[in-house]
Amino acid sequence: MSLVPFDDRDGWIWLDGQFVPWREAKVHVLTHGLHYASSVFEGERMYGGEIFKLTEHTERLFKSAEILDFEIPYTVAEIDEACKATAAKNGLKDCYVRPIAWRGSEMIGVSAQQSKIHVAIAVWEWPSYFDPATKAKGIRLTWAKYQRPDPKTAPIAAKAAGLYMICTISKHAAEKDGYADAMMLDYRGYVAEATGANVFFVKDGVLHTPKPDCFLDGITRRTVIDLAKAKGIEVVERHIQKEELATFTECFIVGTAAEVTPVSEVGEFKFTPAKLSLDLMDTYAALVRGEAMATA
Ligand SMILES: Cc1ncc(COP(=O)(O)O)c(C=O)c1O
Repeated sequence: MSLVPFDDRDGWIWLDGQFVPWREAKVHVLTHGLHYASSVFEGERMYGGEIFKLTEHTERLFKSAEILDFEIPYTVAEIDEACKATAAKNGLKDCYVRPIAWRGSEMIGVSAQQSKIHVAIAVWEWPSYFDPATKAKGIRLTWAKYQRPDPKTAPIAAKAAGLYMICTISKHAAEKDGYADAMMLDYRGYVAEATGANVFFVKDGVLHTPKPDCFLDGITRRTVIDLAKAKGIEVVERHIQKEELATFTECFIVGTAAEVTPVSEVGEFKFTPAKLSLDLMDTYAALVRGEAMATA
């Protein structure tokens, strides 16, 4: 796979209120966000010129910053407009959108009360998070060695950079063993989520999904719950034991990047993507493109 580095591309990045040429959107090595992960971000997708649930994403960005004890120096409406303007400036209508806010380099100790808050927005083409050829057949996941932390030990409701450290380590280990991703348990041993997406299971036509009490309650997760309910499908949000996976017939993961991706395997447990997963995958794909919501 030929890799085009993310710092060596053509285009424009919105940085602190201005468009700068892509290659010039840099930070100093003594940046608090780099040293202490004082950074929050969003992952959004634009479909046919519209960013799906843009304001919900922007509001979550602001909430994440507030949880990390900093204030983004713009309004939600300004960041919404900047996201749209960045896509337009780069001539893209179908793309991934990455806003990020971080503490700057005024202070480099743990305390950073006087640090300036910076915001950047980049967009790029990113058609599919997982290999499209295997998506409908279901991707293979293994178990992650790390568990989602206790809310008493980390700001779990924030989409904060620091929370991704265990995700990257887990995903790397999974990929080294030939898997597409890793499923994480939580600090109590319940099934939590994949490294960048929430999870659903199917049993007897009912959807079961872990209660998001120690990980991100994703925007896609909530959308899929609404879609399923609109189709008359029962959705149960509860704690799910690892051993229970043997009783489910279908599994899929959901997230802005992953969209709805069927899963064929989580470690020792096997699933067959079938009607419910594939139908929700198609309905979600139609919804984000502004097409009529099909009801099964
Ligand atoms: C760890 C994690 N969980 C869940 C999600 C799904 O969130 P959303 O549907 O809001 O993209 C993401 C993606 O942002 C994520 O990184």
